[in-house]
Amino acid sequence: MRISEETVEKVKRGTDITELVSSYIKLEKRGRNYVGLCPFHDEKTPSFSVSPDKQICHCFGCKKGGNVFQFYMEIENKSFAEAVRKLGKPLGIEIEAGETQEPDSDMQLIRMHEYLTDLYHHILMHTNEGQQALDYLTGRGFSADIIRKEKIGIAPDMRDFTKNALSEKGYSMELAYQAGLISRNEENFSYYDRFSGRIMIPIRNHHGYIVGYTARSLDGREPKYLNTPETPIFQKRQLLYNLSDARKDIRKQDEVILMEGHLDVVKVKMTNVRNIIGLMGTALSEENIRTLNRLASNITFMFDGDEAGQNAQISLGEQLLKSGANVYVISIPKGQDPDEFIEKRGADVFEALVKNERKHYIHFKADQLLEESLNNDMAFSNNLNVLADHLKFVKDEVTREKLLQHISDIYKIDKRSIESKVPAASGTTSARTAPAGRQLPLRERKERYFLRAMVEDRELFREFQNDIDEEVLTTPDYYVIFKGLCAYFDKQDSFDISSFSQYIDGRLFSTVVELDNILIHEDVTREEINDYLKDLSGIRNSEKEKQSLYIQLQEAENDNDIELQARLAQKLNDLNMRYKR
Ligand code: GTP
Ligand code: MN
Repeated sequence: MRISEETVEKVKRGTDITELVSSYIKLEKRGRNYVGLCPFHDEKTPSFSVSPDKQICHCFGCKKGGNVFQFYMEIENKSFAEAVRKLGKPLGIEIEAGETQEPDSDMQLIRMHEYLTDLYHHILMHTNEGQQALDYLTGRGFSADIIRKEKIGIAPDMRDFTKNALSEKGYSMELAYQAGLISRNEENFSYYDRFSGRIMIPIRNHHGYIVGYTARSLDGREPKYLNTPETPIFQKRQLLYNLSDARKDIRKQDEVILMEGHLDVVKVKMTNVRNIIGLMGTALSEENIRTLNRLASNITFMFDGDEAGQNAQISLGEQLLKSGANVYVISIPKGQDPDEFIEKRGADVFEALVKNERKHYIHFKADQLLEESLNNDMAFSNNLNVLADHLKFVKDEVTREKLLQHISDIYKIDKRSIESKVPAASGTTSARTAPAGRQLPLRERKERYFLRAMVEDRELFREFQNDIDEEVLTTPDYYVIFKGLCAYFDKQDSFDISSFSQYIDGRLFSTVVELDNILIHEDVTREEINDYLKDLSGIRNSEKEKQSLYIQLQEAENDNDIELQARLAQKLNDLNMRYKR
């Protein structure tokens, strides 16, 4: 069910952004705006700005912000529906609880999990049936508090406990099977419990709903951990354990710590370290990587201190490094995992470890690879090449320099010869990642100015709307914003950045703020706009564009980036086809 536009609009009009933001952070008036310390990242000088006129807020540092809904969603880690409901409440606007972002069919599966989780938890805490499991957990150092907080439970060691419990609640067996809660005998189509005699650790999705379990055996029964199978609501590639709980801390610290074991995460939650996530298995999916990168720029591994853990850190770390993250490793002593470390050494020592130790991924890898390189010259040269190649992903110059120095020290090779192996980093053309302060390419500046003029004036927009396509606005983000404008001006007469922000993806908000801030002289003439349009779309530009593509192609060749070469060659080809003559 969707909340109606009218309701959304009513709540938005009734909520003042300055009042809302100042209930979270201290604001000071500066000119027409208010400024304060950004609640979304750590900083010492205020870069978070609130505009009462525009009813938006925006951080010039971390680029987060938006209108009242977006601010509330970000800071409370809530869905859009929840934000509208919560902000509507004091205005006397009631929105039904059923209006959430999860589709109804998913909610049914989720409700089954919520019901069973409470039941399993009750059995663990308050019945004889659960005593042995409770003793086991207590013996391993899990407090009653954390068991309650995580709603850990026990599935009784019976063939049809869960089956009957769900059936009594009126759920069909087919649905329970779909949810991965019971299994089916394919010969006679009878159903029986999937999880029996296991400790049930609930797994929540990114919105905080319980969608599955990881279930540990108590008696050495194999497998040690049995997970919910893939279901409509439990897709491992989309899930990260403990994300819904840790999101706020991760954002605040701009760092996420990754662990292998779910019970490790639970144990660490008993300490003051909160920005932790458990992986759902041994791989990181594309989705996982995207989610992590959006959450924080620093990703730290803290896997088990065994060979499997070390190897996983090496391979997953490489993936993350190449995706643009700053990757670090905190090493756990040999033979231990985070849970055992805390049991042996205590929470204080663990917290100190997290606070004080962090090797850059390349530092960690250089150390790891050193031994095999000592008596094997081939490995030596290969490994140095790999490390040099990794260095191109290190954006911070000081860090890069320090890593270079470390490699040079331990491999006893002159710094400059290693440096000469480091390929040049390949640039990106996205508007969003354009480094702040640096001048944008001419073409992009023109597109930006042009789009700004369109935002200003709906009449103008209407007039030129049909002439604009991806070849006029070649910067992908600008084109997406333009599409948003089409939908927006369909319904609205004049531009209002606070309302418009709901028509675009949150990551583009900051670009829109920048657009909005470009000063434009009054009265842009039609001729001027026409001129821009000709300039951006026309043949006049094609020669310059070709030249720039040739240069980029040259760079891609030097980088040996085959994929980029192919893409650029294709672009050149397209350009030549379009502007024959
Ligand atoms: P505890 O023995 O309860 O402390 O678990 P652990 O996390 O220390 O287990 P271990 O070091 O053996 O394995 C590390 C991680 O691999 C676990 O947390 C699980 O995520 C996963 N794992 C271990 N055994 C199994 C298994 O039998 N099946 C599956 N699916 N995953 C497992
Ligand atoms: Mn363990």
